[in-house]
Amino acid sequence: ELGPYRHFMQKEIHEQPRAIADTIEAVMDNGGFSAELFGDNAQSVLADIEGVQILACGTSYYAGLTARYWIEAITGLPCAVDIASEYRYRRVVANPKHLVVTISQSGETLDTMEALKYAKSLGHDRTLSICNVPESAIPRASRLVYYTRAGAEIGVASTKAFTTQLVALFTLTCTIAKLRGQLDAAQEADHLDSLRQLPGSVQHALNLEPQITGWSDRFAPKQHALFLGRGMHYPIALEGALKLKEISYIHAEAYPAGELKHGPLALVDSEMPVVVIAPNDSLLEKVKSNIQEVRARGGEMFVFTDADSQFGESEGVHVIRTPRHVGVLSPIVHAIPVQLLAYHAALARGTDVDKPRNLAKSVTVE
Ligand code: F6R
Repeated sequence: ELGPYRHFMQKEIHEQPRAIADTIEAVMDNGGFSAELFGDNAQSVLADIEGVQILACGTSYYAGLTARYWIEAITGLPCAVDIASEYRYRRVVANPKHLVVTISQSGETLDTMEALKYAKSLGHDRTLSICNVPESAIPRASRLVYYTRAGAEIGVASTKAFTTQLVALFTLTCTIAKLRGQLDAAQEADHLDSLRQLPGSVQHALNLEPQITGWSDRFAPKQHALFLGRGMHYPIALEGALKLKEISYIHAEAYPAGELKHGPLALVDSEMPVVVIAPNDSLLEKVKSNIQEVRARGGEMFVFTDADSQFGESEGVHVIRTPRHVGVLSPIVHAIPVQLLAYHAALARGTDVDKPRNLAKSVTVE
């Protein structure tokens, strides 16, 4: 069942090009973005929304945080993202014209289900579920659904479910933008093309595995690690830190790089490895200057960037490059190296990668 892989997590990481290709198949067959991809009558639910409210937990929440950048930039609508277990106990000001999007791999997470019920009790009847398990509880309780086609995810740490959730959220973003007249034919063709090329770009990122394995020995003995990113790669830094914590038990925290000087810089010394997600986007120069601050304090840096970013290696600065920057879908490509880093650090520490202590695959309790 594992084929050439040692763990389900490793197998599932490597299944991502296929999982993404399967998840976008309906869009490609359809020849573009349209409401029907989300179910019958989706047009009437999506057409005149005034904003988006995302609810999820854990890794699925980080998919939501990433999507907020796409939704606000591409549709022009405001987007809020809440941790389901917090939203459900907060006195929320609801606008029923906002679309409530729940994201759940399993479709059974109790906190997300209860947050959805609470949203409905506040008058939200435009509800959409992004889910990997057909006919599970959350899609059944939602008016619209987009199923990710990751296939069964067995490793407790979510990998292929995360990247396919991102693909589904990007598809939703483009669909809403098109319905609102915010996406012309040329832009739609561009986004479709980016999606079509994504499985190949993800495969290129997977090919970095030997280089990442080379880093894992330096990570394995560490007690702590810091992850930095900016913009839509900040949620990828959060996801990288969560993966590392979950399966290697190394304490990791993520910060948007601009926040360093507001506190966490005090933690940096030669014992603190700092992982930086620094793709070749408009924030690259900002990230470069933020990390000078780390280097000046002796922190060892592990940088994931793109070949076209001119990011050089230097003393204490290790660099791994994807072949090129892929634009708006870059967070999906950059999710891969942080998954691999967590996996190989855990392997070097000898932890139970597929079944980390204290965790369950589906969290159906509060
Ligand atoms: C992390 C992980 C968890 C889940 C979270 C939500 O690797 O798997 O953080 O993402 O428990 O689960 P779902 O998506 O099933 O609602």
